[in-house]
Amino acid sequence: MSREESQIPELIRHLGGLRTGVARAISEQTGVAEAQIYGVGSFFHLLNAPDVKLRVCQGLSCRLAGSENVLESIGGNGVLASPCSCLALCDQPPAVLNDRTLSTWNDGEVVALDEAALGGAVSESRSDMAIDLAGEPDFSNRALNRALELGPQAVLDVLEASGLQGRGGAGFPAHLKWRAVRDQAETERFVVLNADEGEPGTFKDRAVLARRPDRVVEGLTIAARVIGANDVTIYYRGAFESLMDKDFEYRGVRFHLHSGHGAYICGEETALLEALEGGRGMPRLKPPFPTTKGLWSKPTLVHNVETIACLPEIIMRGGEWFRGLGRSEPGSKLYSISGHVQKPGTYELPLGVTLDELVEEAGGYVGTLKAFSPGGASSGFLPASERTRPLDAKSLAEVGSMLGSAGVVVLNETVKMPWAALHQLRFFAEESCGQCAPCRIGTRLLAEQLTQHLSSGAPLDAVDDVAWEMGEGSICGLGQTAALPLTSAMKYFPEEFSR
Ligand SMILES: Cc1cc2nc3c(=O)[nH]c(=O)nc-3n(C[C@H](O)[C@H](O)[C@H](O)COP(=O)(O)O)c2cc1C
Ligand code: SF4
Repeated sequence: MSREESQIPELIRHLGGLRTGVARAISEQTGVAEAQIYGVGSFFHLLNAPDVKLRVCQGLSCRLAGSENVLESIGGNGVLASPCSCLALCDQPPAVLNDRTLSTWNDGEVVALDEAALGGAVSESRSDMAIDLAGEPDFSNRALNRALELGPQAVLDVLEASGLQGRGGAGFPAHLKWRAVRDQAETERFVVLNADEGEPGTFKDRAVLARRPDRVVEGLTIAARVIGANDVTIYYRGAFESLMDKDFEYRGVRFHLHSGHGAYICGEETALLEALEGGRGMPRLKPPFPTTKGLWSKPTLVHNVETIACLPEIIMRGGEWFRGLGRSEPGSKLYSISGHVQKPGTYELPLGVTLDELVEEAGGYVGTLKAFSPGGASSGFLPASERTRPLDAKSLAEVGSMLGSAGVVVLNETVKMPWAALHQLRFFAEESCGQCAPCRIGTRLLAEQLTQHLSSGAPLDAVDDVAWEMGEGSICGLGQTAALPLTSAMKYFPEEFSR
């Protein structure tokens, strides 16, 4: 892909989306094949249906809040509205996207949310936590200055001592990635911020961007200076546009802001890089990893927003301090929580608190706990009996689940598990990029089988085989975990799946 080709999605957007004639017009202007332009535009939800005015979230938390009825009401008013995947507003459901403005449905109206509202409910200010969402933004650059005084090797040692692991879902140790990029012979290197936040149930990065942009910019600048990069690219989901600035330069580092165009899979780091280069957002085979061959085939450090936002306080207070914040694993952690709790929001707590402790912070349960999803849709469901299990990577892996992005969704006794599983399956079927057959076919097949089961009692006899195929034969985490909402619901609530 050439640097000119990377402009294609923006050109399509500029011309009002993928309308008739748009691909040809751009082809004539750029010399890029019309089919390629069409292929890119048709991949992204926000480009491929230009006449849709409003998009109504069908994520689990929004469904619990009646988003299906919202779709009907809006459609009844003659406005072109469509269902869409999770909008990262699970704490203020039902969520609606008006062009690229994140809104909620209130008293029969679409209400746009300003920056304060997008910050959402958070823990009270606690300066003994790494991010402190309710704290005052601090643009003094203390941590950056300190990092520059310390020098790269000392910063890497602090990072290693902190035990910081990626907060985007995979949990890879941060210092290993930094060293891997820094050790490359190639001196043109990049930092990429993954602000695509699309995992259903997860909205913590939105809260960080709205409340603590100081931490993000300072953390990114530190990362760039330590790994020897002059350019940082922020890839943010289209729905976060109101939280974003234009390109800027800061302390010798150039920041490039890139709006996503609606595709959950672009949160996967290599799909994100493909999208940044102007292609369809399809994950690459790994290895090579982005640390050696990332953006434009150059060594690239990709990090989640929360991971980066932890850096300033790690530098200021030391690695041991951060490590000690966690209960069972290092650090404090941002948990997004929504569904049947009194005060859905983003809460920063020691890594390894239990569901009961997290829900206490969120004002208590609504109704009686039946099940919960601990780490986004990909983590499946756990029964109420797991309410005292530490919400950390190791403890959740022991029961076949995962911490993932720590997007916790709470379900009470009113929820039927096949219904909940079906919505998660439909999400994955909708968002599969389609390049691996087990994922492309398996997600649709499971959703279809469950639909048949619910309507006519048809048996769910192929589930285990299909889930195995998907787990073994998919390139990326989407296909590898997409069956889990169904298999976990069937495991813990078998009576709800019998004829
Ligand atoms: C299907 C899929 C979706 C993902 N979505 C996101 C996302 O929205 N945000 C994110 O930071 N990481 C996401 N990831 C994880 C990224 O691939 C990558 O591990 C992460 O951005 C690295 O940053 P970290 O080390 O700070 O966690 C996703 C992974 C998969 C497989
Ligand atoms: S597993 Fe699914 S989403 Fe991931 S690359 Fe394959 S088809 Fe695409």
